[in-house]
Amino acid sequence: GQNPKLVAGNWKMNGTRSFLDMVAELRVGAAGGIADTDLLVCPPATLLAAVATALEGSSIGAGGQDCHAKESGAFTGDVSAEMIADCGATHVIVGHSERRQYHGEDDAAVAAKMQAAHRAGLVAIACVGETQDQREAGKALDVVRKQVAALLDDSVTGANTCIAYEPVWAIGTGLTPTVADVAEMHTAIRETIAATIGADEAAQVRLLYGGSVKPANARELMAATDVDGALVGGASLVAADFLAIARAC
Ligand code: G3H
Repeated sequence: GQNPKLVAGNWKMNGTRSFLDMVAELRVGAAGGIADTDLLVCPPATLLAAVATALEGSSIGAGGQDCHAKESGAFTGDVSAEMIADCGATHVIVGHSERRQYHGEDDAAVAAKMQAAHRAGLVAIACVGETQDQREAGKALDVVRKQVAALLDDSVTGANTCIAYEPVWAIGTGLTPTVADVAEMHTAIRETIAATIGADEAAQVRLLYGGSVKPANARELMAATDVDGALVGGASLVAADFLAIARAC
């Protein structure tokens, strides 16, 4: 693809301060940069400031995993996009399927979070993807097109938004779609974005694939049409694997 690849690691609810050793390993491994690939680590909120500080001056960025739609207020336990930016992060994931599934976030809630991320000057990594039932029913393309369309407005740019296609059935299962299925979906996502913001801007939006990305399958998945990077879960918890995926781009 024409865009530099982005490989983002989503630690999910994993990581204590001992993980800062792994961040130091990543920093050494990525020293000098990995050609044409940007790296991002998304630790839990409790570690975000420490990880961002540990990565200062390196080629690796830090991002949050979720944010609230409001700037501040009486929302016990929540974290705003401003707080994430204040930690030194540059990106935030919104609408991960685990947030949609376990926290009841619908498309409108995810869109509000994406707008909050943009207001805070963060790049939003917005997640979409079909369930196994939806794929088996032949509805995957329609479901994902609808999820993407619900997120878009004319404030979306190639610089402030990434879309991560994560088929729910591929997350943490070791299963992946075929390269042809990934390419078909990513092309459909880009066409959907183009319908709102125009083809030139849509071409700049990085489209990440997520779901059981490993060193062994990264090369072929990352070479697929319209794939501009990866959102990596399990394999991002092992520095050598995460770096191997980045190099496979
Ligand atoms: O955000 C990351 C994804 O949910 C993928 O997770 O690589 O463990 O399948 P996974």
